[in-house]
Amino acid sequence: MTPDASTQDKNDTRAKFTTFAESTKADWDNIMVQLQVTQARVADRLIEQLEYLRHDYGGFPVNRLEHCLQTATRAERDGRDEEYILCALVHDIGDNLSPYNHAAVAAAIVEPAVSKANHWLVAHHGIFQGYFFWQHVGLDPNARDNFRDSDYYDYTAEFCAKYDQVAFDPDYKSAPLEYYEPIIRKFFAPRDRTSEKIN
Ligand SMILES: [Fe+2]
Ligand SMILES: [Fe+2]
Repeated sequence: MTPDASTQDKNDTRAKFTTFAESTKADWDNIMVQLQVTQARVADRLIEQLEYLRHDYGGFPVNRLEHCLQTATRAERDGRDEEYILCALVHDIGDNLSPYNHAAVAAAIVEPAVSKANHWLVAHHGIFQGYFFWQHVGLDPNARDNFRDSDYYDYTAEFCAKYDQVAFDPDYKSAPLEYYEPIIRKFFAPRDRTSEKIN
């Protein structure tokens, strides 16, 4: 059974150890259940984090949430699948957490939920976006060419060209965040992770 938030409220059993070295299997059996409860709350946390971007323009023509929604909407209207739309939606979710390393934040979030290609796209989109403006900030716009040998070079370049770098139009009619909430909830729902490592 998938635990939900109410499970943790009713079953908030806490271990008694003060160091991992003295922890027991029983402690960890309970903690692993609670980890799934935490996972069940991830979608809500992501939606909250996207909401923070609504109030952040950072000098751009549209706020950071509108940019994310516009990127996702453009991808959807171009026939992309749900996983791609999800990546488009959250690709800049780390903008106000780690402005100089925001792509890595989003990549870490999506990695357990998406394909290797889409993870690579999210992780490298910042460098590929640079193609369109880095000459204005003293950086090399062709830095993306260091990744020419990647299987995902063209895939990521296409994302930036068609959806990301064009998603700053104040007049574009993007779908609202509520429209994309079901996709976030679908991809970040708890699932059996017994064979996965925990970082
Ligand atoms: Fe970005
Ligand atoms: Fe972006």
